[in-house]
Amino acid sequence: MAKSAELHFEGKVYELPVVEGTEGEKAVDISKLRGQSGLITLDVGFKNTGSTKSAITFLDGEKGILRHRGYTIEELCEKAQFLDVAYLLIYGEYPTPEVSKTFAEKITLHTLVHEDMRKIFDGFPTSAHPMGVLSSLVTSLTAFYPESLDPTTSPEGVNTTIIRLLAKLPTIAAWSYKNEMGHPLNYPKNKLNYVENFLHMMFALRTDDYEINPVVAAAMNKLLILHADHEQNCSAATVRVVGSSQASLYASVSAGINALWGRLHGGANQAVIEMLENIKADGGDVEKYIAKAKDKNDPFRLMGFGHRVYKNFDPRARIIKKSCDDVLESLGIHDETLEIAKKLEEVALKDDYFVSRKLFPNVDFYSGIIYRAIGIPTDMFTVMFALGRLPGWIAQWKEMREEGQAIGRPRQVYVGENERKLNI
Ligand code: MLT
Repeated sequence: MAKSAELHFEGKVYELPVVEGTEGEKAVDISKLRGQSGLITLDVGFKNTGSTKSAITFLDGEKGILRHRGYTIEELCEKAQFLDVAYLLIYGEYPTPEVSKTFAEKITLHTLVHEDMRKIFDGFPTSAHPMGVLSSLVTSLTAFYPESLDPTTSPEGVNTTIIRLLAKLPTIAAWSYKNEMGHPLNYPKNKLNYVENFLHMMFALRTDDYEINPVVAAAMNKLLILHADHEQNCSAATVRVVGSSQASLYASVSAGINALWGRLHGGANQAVIEMLENIKADGGDVEKYIAKAKDKNDPFRLMGFGHRVYKNFDPRARIIKKSCDDVLESLGIHDETLEIAKKLEEVALKDDYFVSRKLFPNVDFYSGIIYRAIGIPTDMFTVMFALGRLPGWIAQWKEMREEGQAIGRPRQVYVGENERKLNI
């Protein structure tokens, strides 16, 4: 029997349908409430609002579960290649070996970016933050592929736009780093796989004999998978809302990149390393900063601890912590900042103040440490997150489009002045 909930208001009873997800999650459908009663719902920051039904990612914040299309993040990280996970998220099924090969070949055909885009790169000062360069360049793809502007015309055209974006983002991301360094740009090497190619474009030419370290490539593959999607987070919700106006995929993803940039979202991994650097510069006294974090009157905030939806632990952090230890050991890295991170983690995991407040190290805490260990500069960390999140954004955008979702248009409760006269 269909479930419903009742709302009693001013002597009337409104019956509201209850929608149930495949994992038993229940939601009150209020889409007709305003028409029936004049009421809207108020949920600042959409913390308790389901903005869509989705079949892409399941997340249980209490139990620390994260699954993409039904597969656990643990299994995907252990066995899969990033590009296959991208395929899974976007098209709904894990690719067979043949499909995987064809998909990778298609991506390879599109890794070059138009030479005229180099002129845009040249216009950026070397001080430009690579996230700004990345989002600008993704928007500028609309100029080179104007057929992408209208996503309503052809499904094959949309698919080519998807392939182009997946293929070109690593090139653009690596070039945004090269721009910052003032280095010549490296072109893609298509005999390499997706992850190796990115490492090549980032690091070749820095040392003549640059060879891809398999430990680094494996860690990078895992990091990208770990970030591939996280259901209706701030940037995915942005991509869906922007796309709901029928803006192109490039414009929608560019908006997602900007949403990711902030330190409360993807920018957190950069903020973690900056925090560790500051602690180091101040003598490396971890206990002092633990005390500061506990002091209500101190503005210091521990970055990379706790999570909005995970209440007990972040399953991605558990996976990445292991990978972090492996990478540091195999690269023989001894870095004071990383030592500070380890001490901070150790104290926070035992201290009742942090334990009782669920302030556990999250994925941003460890990912920054690995990026740093493998030589990715700090302000590229969020770009790495964007590279990983791209398939999720595409999958969310595609699902939204295929379901013909209405334009995102929230309401508000107005609390400003009532009508008044201009006394002039
Ligand atoms: C993410 O992966 O997008 C972040 O953990 C933020 C979130 O889910 O709210």
